[in-house]
Amino acid sequence: MAKPEKKKANAEPEIMEKLVALCKQRGFVFQSSEIYGGLKSCYDYGPLGAELKRNVKAEWWRTMVHAREDVVGLDASIIMHPNVWRASGHLATFADPMVDCKDCKERGRADKWPQAAKGSEIEFKVVVDHQSGKKETRKGAVGDLGIVCPNCGSPNMSDIRRFNLMFRTSLGSIDPIETLSRRLEGKALSGEELRKVLAESIEETAVYLRPETAQAMFTNFTNVQQSMRMKPPFGIAQQGKSFRNEITVEHFTFRSCEFEQMEMEFFVTPPEYLQPGEKTDMQWFEYWSNERLNWYASLGLRKEKLRLRPHEANELAHYAKACNDVEYEYPWGWGELEGIAHRTDYDLKQHEKHSGKKLTYFDPQANKHYHPFVIEPAAGADRAALAFLIDGFVEEPPPPGTNEGRTVLRLHPRLAPIKLAVFPLVKKEGMPESARKIVEEFSKAGIKAAYDEKDAIGRRYRRQDECGTPYCITVDGQTAQDGSVTIRERDSMKQDRIQVAEAVKVVRKRLAE
Ligand code: GAP
Repeated sequence: MAKPEKKKANAEPEIMEKLVALCKQRGFVFQSSEIYGGLKSCYDYGPLGAELKRNVKAEWWRTMVHAREDVVGLDASIIMHPNVWRASGHLATFADPMVDCKDCKERGRADKWPQAAKGSEIEFKVVVDHQSGKKETRKGAVGDLGIVCPNCGSPNMSDIRRFNLMFRTSLGSIDPIETLSRRLEGKALSGEELRKVLAESIEETAVYLRPETAQAMFTNFTNVQQSMRMKPPFGIAQQGKSFRNEITVEHFTFRSCEFEQMEMEFFVTPPEYLQPGEKTDMQWFEYWSNERLNWYASLGLRKEKLRLRPHEANELAHYAKACNDVEYEYPWGWGELEGIAHRTDYDLKQHEKHSGKKLTYFDPQANKHYHPFVIEPAAGADRAALAFLIDGFVEEPPPPGTNEGRTVLRLHPRLAPIKLAVFPLVKKEGMPESARKIVEEFSKAGIKAAYDEKDAIGRRYRRQDECGTPYCITVDGQTAQDGSVTIRERDSMKQDRIQVAEAVKVVRKRLAE
């Protein structure tokens, strides 16, 4: 009898449990509304997490917009005209296949659940007494969906249902409930009729929280191209919140219902209008795939944990010519970090069709209007921040001859929430005052520094190691004599002496490396 590989639905690898605990303890990420029992899949970034995510977004903006002449930025509204989502296809097709386990009632995405051969006999265990945890062994045959429950292993599934992942709300001063109650007053309707009235009434004022930032770059194509006099190849970049009513939320912030995206639509010349020497659409696709992969490596993600995975033909959207995922090897296996898609001219043409407004570029050389092709690198700020946290999380064993190991967040210095901590060795002899003055100097220089005088010096170093702080400066007895302090580097724990007067210069230089 086949036994499917059983995976407890909510069980995380041990390292994730440790990281989640560290994130709470050190102020990176908290569960949203924790005092009310939390809200599934919603998270709050604490003081250090907010700094980390801002640094991730700042690095993305720096490389994608500021460092290039061919990309400009956009900051569009989250709520857009509902026709945007009709044109993009999100209203009709942005739905996941939802399935329920009939035995343990686990709910999830059918396309993500473990597969098993159709018709094969399965043995599984179901909890029958929730107080004692007593389980009963049952048997069943795998149905036509060819999946089993990731929680209890049962092959007994509900039918697949699809529901739209977009969050719907209503815009305007008319409450849809008022309209509805007027329309329904005194009417005896069948279930089908009732559904129709409900759907029509809700639709009149319905708007949606955007499920991706990308569409605003298409709807604003002409505005941006003309106001900034851009000529393909050029890109429009945007960062901002997106919302998806995900059925399965998983792995901490990896898949949540509210998240931030960092997307860029790069408009390139289609093959028939290419000038000699110009990169082709496929060359741009390869270019952006490699650029994006290298961006993560340049900010410290280990190269062996990163790869580009081309999509199989059956994974591609019908309009897409190609797609590569930048994947990272998370503690639970390889998974998407970012997608780079070749979207052809589908989006511009769709919006042109639905809005009746031209969304073309006029090529003066060819004396023709054309729809540029689009290469889209689409990343998530939360997912990137999570990957940097996972990759940086290291539990170092005690060095030989000692019995104290340490936990370090080896974050790239440019991503680290606090760049420098300053300690007085002891709380006397003017050391606290000197240390505070150093913090002030760094604050004036725009470098985030923290002062800490609590506990023994070793514990203070450990605390900063867990926060990912790359440098610690200690004011000691020698400081008053020769104006020098020690500077300790987080990863190597190596200490040098530098002059206080040089401290800002030294740290700034190291941060830029
Ligand atoms: N415009 C294309 C687009 O939105 P996507 O692959 O659905 O493509 C792009 O999303 C990126 O956004 C993903 O690679 C991921 O980093 C992030 N992302 C998507 N859904 C997410 C979710 N539910 N929670 C956190 N991040 C998410």
